[in-house]
Amino acid sequence: MLVLGIDTSCDDTAAGLVEDGRRVLSNVVSSQHELHAAFQGVVPEIASRAHAERISLVVKKALADAGRTLDDLDAIAVTTRPGLVGSLLVGVAFARALAWSRGLPLVDVHHIEAHAIAARADHEDLAYPYVALVASGGHTALYACRGPEEIVRLGETHDDAAGECFDKVAVLLNLPQPGGPSVSKLATSGSPTAVAFPRYRAPEQGLAFSFSGLKTAVLYHLKGPGGRRDDPVRADLPCSIADVAASFERAAVDALIAPSLRAAALEGVGDLVVGGGVAANRELRRLLAERAPTGLRVRFPRPALCADNGAMIAMRGAELFALGRRAPLDIDVSPYAVD
Ligand code: KG4
Ligand code: ZN
Repeated sequence: MLVLGIDTSCDDTAAGLVEDGRRVLSNVVSSQHELHAAFQGVVPEIASRAHAERISLVVKKALADAGRTLDDLDAIAVTTRPGLVGSLLVGVAFARALAWSRGLPLVDVHHIEAHAIAARADHEDLAYPYVALVASGGHTALYACRGPEEIVRLGETHDDAAGECFDKVAVLLNLPQPGGPSVSKLATSGSPTAVAFPRYRAPEQGLAFSFSGLKTAVLYHLKGPGGRRDDPVRADLPCSIADVAASFERAAVDALIAPSLRAAALEGVGDLVVGGGVAANRELRRLLAERAPTGLRVRFPRPALCADNGAMIAMRGAELFALGRRAPLDIDVSPYAVD
């Protein structure tokens, strides 16, 4: 079974081909970072225009890289939610037109559920049930993945997403976007214990996250109490900028790990899967593996499947397609993760 997956939920135009549910034949991502760089965030109108310009070429390349043609496809999977509405609409309109013109079935995919299963491409033995931590620029949440049609959200962030926090701290540290990789790179030359940044603890051992307090703590540490984003770094900073980056990264990673291990224990599962752009973080990978109790396997996707991509959409689409899921050709999009 060969499925084409399309994702245009945010600022990456992505398409991938997956065979038999988990064999990734191609994975093409056209990043728009350079278009949004000047704005310190994604500009929805610019994003949807760029998707419209690129989607056809990206899908053609995904087919060419896999050495396949449209005739070989069994289904088309597309992200319909959550995301920027104008961006989602471009991918969905393209997928609908392609499905109609080729007489192919269309499968609607929930973007976060796809992040929650992306690791399957690299872990053949991964099976339900498991717990998934999805941490990206737009979402940070824990899911109980009890079966293909029972993916239940256990908890999420009260405010910023983890990746968003990395991005905002990168602005404070004068580092390029996306912030995750640049903060992480600087952190390798700093000490993670130099600054005791706060770690959010959900009341009563809950499964929620919060990152806005950590972001403010970094701001005040760098610019002084009550400091503002555009203020200069204070002259009497007691440590290096690299120390700030490393201590922030350790605090953010700690804040992701504790609720994830708690969720895995509460659900009584043997696998903890991580997905989303932040899953590429080396400290998260190292410390989660180190802190996981015996009997809990921690599964990360390969870096190319952590961030937004079409292959994970194809994987999730293939799983749902096999269960009989079909989307009508007038399928709509939604900005929301849940109604
Ligand atoms: O999944 P993704 O590509 O897009 C969203 O759906 O948001 O995630 C992008 C986010 C960005 O906020 C980026 O800074 C973060 O993932 N990220 C990282 C790393 N690589 C990407 N955060 C921490 N460490 C990294 N190595
Ligand atoms: Zn994503």
